[in-house]
Amino acid sequence: MKKEQYSFQFEVFDSINDLSKEDANLLQQSRAITKTAYAPYSNFFVGAVALLSNGEIVKGTNQENASFPVGICAERSLLSSTAALFPAAHILTMAISYQNKNGKSNTPVSPCGMCRQALLEHEKRYDHPIKLILSGTEGEVYVIERSSLLLPLSFTGDDLRK
Ligand code: THU
Repeated sequence: MKKEQYSFQFEVFDSINDLSKEDANLLQQSRAITKTAYAPYSNFFVGAVALLSNGEIVKGTNQENASFPVGICAERSLLSSTAALFPAAHILTMAISYQNKNGKSNTPVSPCGMCRQALLEHEKRYDHPIKLILSGTEGEVYVIERSSLLLPLSFTGDDLRK
């Protein structure tokens, strides 16, 4: 028997002011778009904004449904739009923010497990890392250099060929 260990590093910035201009711009847009999320059931409003390899910006918000499992997260909503609008482009960076029903949040949250799997598929498909910028509407910002770091021992298309 042997033991394996998995760990990864990510950056923690005190505020949006410490980011590069490009990253700050994306985060600012993701904070702003949280307001337009459709989340009447959870009151948890998520906004995701991505910079693509062709320079375009694509946005996504969570879209809930009275039949709860039908709802979709902001990240996967964004991934779907990107694939439909710009199939030849891939995502370089995705900023994700959220607010609660009081219109606030000050701690980063990271993508749910299903979104991590979907982000991984995009990374694999285009053979390019997706940098994640995570933050509430204010406060600390986490920067993770590739989304796949959040999904160790992942299941991918390679496994289907084993
Ligand atoms: N949600 C997202 O949009 N992204 C995440 O990564 C976490 C959860 C949404 C789904 C649901 O509409 C609400 O937040 C509460 O779970």
